[in-house]
Amino acid sequence: MLAISSVTKTYKNGPTALDQVNLNIGPGLFGLLGPNGAGKSTLMRTLATLQQPTSGTIRFNDIDLLEDPESVRQSLGYLPQDFGVYPRISAVKLLEHLAILKGLTEKWRRRDHVDELLHRTNLFDQRHRPVSAFSGGMRQRFGIAQALLGDPKLIIVDEPTAGLDPAERNRFHALLAELSRDKVVILSTHIVDDVEELCSEVAVLVQGRVMQSGSPPALVNQLRGKLWCKHVSHQQLEAAVADPRYIATRLRAGEPVVRFHADRLPGEGFLPAEPDLEDVYFHTLRTAQ
Ligand SMILES: Nc1ncnc2c1ncn2[C@@H]1O[C@H](COP(=O)(O)OP(=O)(O)OP(=O)(O)O)[C@@H](O)[C@H]1O
Ligand SMILES: [Mg+2]
Repeated sequence: MLAISSVTKTYKNGPTALDQVNLNIGPGLFGLLGPNGAGKSTLMRTLATLQQPTSGTIRFNDIDLLEDPESVRQSLGYLPQDFGVYPRISAVKLLEHLAILKGLTEKWRRRDHVDELLHRTNLFDQRHRPVSAFSGGMRQRFGIAQALLGDPKLIIVDEPTAGLDPAERNRFHALLAELSRDKVVILSTHIVDDVEELCSEVAVLVQGRVMQSGSPPALVNQLRGKLWCKHVSHQQLEAAVADPRYIATRLRAGEPVVRFHADRLPGEGFLPAEPDLEDVYFHTLRTAQ
């Protein structure tokens, strides 16, 4: 269990990227959803013990993550949002090298472990190619392979599906789902579908604050009976968007359909709509403004 209490981060000469964040995260896949600049990567780097918060505490099981980061690093896997430049060495050699850095010193055991991870991430046949020559999807799978070195109990993946094609994304999702059976896996994203498909729990972060958290069905339920939709012309759209009850526009056959949140029918031409997690997300963003 990961317990995040009152975590605040203010960058020097910068914004408050995290503002009193409280979250309890158990085994399974946890989705951290938020727009650009919400503070997702800041929280992920903090959990990965790469930076310190300004205040607050974080515990992973019995370990105080801020007091004793070294102990947590043993059981931590991290896939950063931006991996930077890959060296021109082969995937298998790079993984071996990273395994040594992670403390896997026994040669044969390390080789078995590296081979197993290459198989699991479907990269075994490509293992002698340099990672710098991999496609985006293959790099992400390599990123997961390195995050799994040493069989971590806490896995943190920061926007892993950005730029993946649908087939790669599905493969990546299946891998994450498999991993999350007995581990704490935290996934940050601004893609609502990623969370809806995968995560048993989700938090919505806006401007460094947790605005919502819970299971996707429970969050969606809060909007049931309060969501309305209406076909509008492109001319009517501007007025609809300015309405305080407006949450989002979806297109149907190229025509805008606006979605409103209201306790009662918001006006003529509206129909009741079935809420989904995207409505929760946009409603949360609107109310956070
Ligand atoms: N090293 C830093 N120094 C100063 N400010 C920073 C630093 N890193 C992030 N920030 C600021 O903190 C805020 C949160 O940034 P962060 O990268 O955590 O957001 P994010 O949710 O990961 O966004 P994105 O979806 O774009 O990746 C932003 O306003 C950002 O400009
Ligand atoms: Mg980020």
